[in-house]
Amino acid sequence: MKVAIIGAGLVGSLAALNFARMGNEVHLYEYREDIRTAELVQGRSINLALSQRGRKALAAVGLEQQVLATAIPMQGRMLHDVRGRTSVVLYDPCTKQCLYSVGRKQLNEVLLNACEKLPNISCHFNHKLTSADIREGVMQFKRAEEHITASADLIVGCDGAFSKVRQHMVKAAGFNYSQQYIEHGYVELCIPAKSGEFQMPPNYLHIWPRDTFMMIALPNQDKSFTVTLFMPFKNFAAIKTPEQLLEFFNKFYADAVPLIGEERLVQDFFKLKPQYLLSVKCQPYHFSDKALILGDAAHAMVPYYGQGMNAGMEDVTLLTSLLNKPLKLQEVLEQFSEMRWQDAHTICDLALYNYVEMRDLTKRWSFRCRKWLDTLLFRLFPIFWVPLYNSVSFTSMPYSKCIANRNWQDRFLKRSFAGALLAGLAAYLGALYFRGLHAS
Ligand SMILES: Cc1cc2nc3c(=O)[nH]c(=O)nc-3n(C[C@H](O)[C@H](O)[C@H](O)COP(=O)(O)OP(=O)(O)OC[C@H]3O[C@@H](n4cnc5c(N)ncnc54)[C@H](O)[C@@H]3O)c2cc1C
Ligand SMILES: *[C@@H]1O[C@H](CO)[C@@H](O)[C@H](O)[C@H]1NC(C)=O
Ligand SMILES: *[C@@H]1O[C@H](CO)[C@@H](O)[C@H](O)[C@H]1NC(C)=O
Repeated sequence: MKVAIIGAGLVGSLAALNFARMGNEVHLYEYREDIRTAELVQGRSINLALSQRGRKALAAVGLEQQVLATAIPMQGRMLHDVRGRTSVVLYDPCTKQCLYSVGRKQLNEVLLNACEKLPNISCHFNHKLTSADIREGVMQFKRAEEHITASADLIVGCDGAFSKVRQHMVKAAGFNYSQQYIEHGYVELCIPAKSGEFQMPPNYLHIWPRDTFMMIALPNQDKSFTVTLFMPFKNFAAIKTPEQLLEFFNKFYADAVPLIGEERLVQDFFKLKPQYLLSVKCQPYHFSDKALILGDAAHAMVPYYGQGMNAGMEDVTLLTSLLNKPLKLQEVLEQFSEMRWQDAHTICDLALYNYVEMRDLTKRWSFRCRKWLDTLLFRLFPIFWVPLYNSVSFTSMPYSKCIANRNWQDRFLKRSFAGALLAGLAAYLGALYFRGLHAS
């Protein structure tokens, strides 16, 4: 089968590897130049948190160890309060699993190098898909001033949140689609290495929660941190001058100012406009036996659960296992859409919810109590009681099952809490009654 994959990002290059290993002829088309020779671009999340689902997909193509070798483990969240005091909340005090900070460019390079080694993947960089006839499997590309036509038996759209392939599917009957921009945007900043060393403890995901906004930082291989400030657009708009910026930072992120450096802070902050964040839900993910979308093209999500890439890579794992079954292509694609949409919608919702948790709840006692209780029960019953964050990040349990699990745990805790309260009340009333009997 001739397979055209649109987009050589993290999901597209992984999908290409899988299709080629099954003996297909794969053409990988990418709008941008080859990332391996391109300069690093600010603003497209320079690093990402890799967790179980992504690791599993990389392991399946023999690349997990190579990726982990240059990744930096993050054992938990390190919270920075307004006064610069820090506290640590481990992700998994029981079995010590962690997230891995990986460079987007490095990871993409590892995948593209692997693609290049396979004889039946052809990479076409600087090819922008401009239109496609998904019924006929015909695609139009633009390369500089040149127009190129190509055809394929199957078109796989891995072309990200603004997918062109998806645009063509939206027009087809029976395709459900919704997108949502949140009112918050982000800018990327940098805490550089100092004398060749990290300026903060490296093995954590650093968070500065500030109720309605927050800042995070993930470690890089070169001992710097990529810092991301998330905030409502109106707050960004209120910061117009370097003075206003420094005043804002000295008020809310005073401990980070000397680490970033005032000059660099001003330079990086004003270099780019705040970027938008988009959540996309659609269904189904295929069109007949002709087209399919994967990764952000199918389910872009806000980045607060660190699952966008992981979920996209998991798409590839699930699709590959279906392709290995003795089914017709049409059946494979139908089953893929059917088994995936609910889970994808769930993780989109969870990602929106986790923003509230990260910027606000992590500071609250109720959250910390719940976390403590979760950890205690997890330690006592590691198979029976897996907390939500852990099932999402450290297992391959379907996302909707993670949520069902959490709902059950909530009910259980409420019931036990109510039960304990009632028992306490009954004991108290009983004691009063007996005291009364005694007295009379
Ligand atoms: C700030 C931020 C932080 C994030 N952090 C994490 C994290 O910690 N963990 C995590 O798992 N996920 C994270 N994500 C999500 C993650 O970046 C995405 O889910 C992931 O990049 C999706 O990969 P993809 O290959 O589907 O799409 P993309 O990475 O967007 O790749 C799409 C590719 O298609 C190409 N393309 C687009 N249009 C065309 C066209 N018309 N023709 C040809 N090529 C085209 C693009 O150039 C690009 O190379 C984060 C996202 C953001 C914005
Ligand atoms: C693709 O590569 C595989 C393994 O290297 C090989 O078995 C297969 O015949 C190739 N297919 C095409 C169409 O080149
Ligand atoms: C589209 O959404 C509606 C309403 O939620 C649902 O009933 C329908 O089955 C969906 N269509 C597809 C193709 O999934």
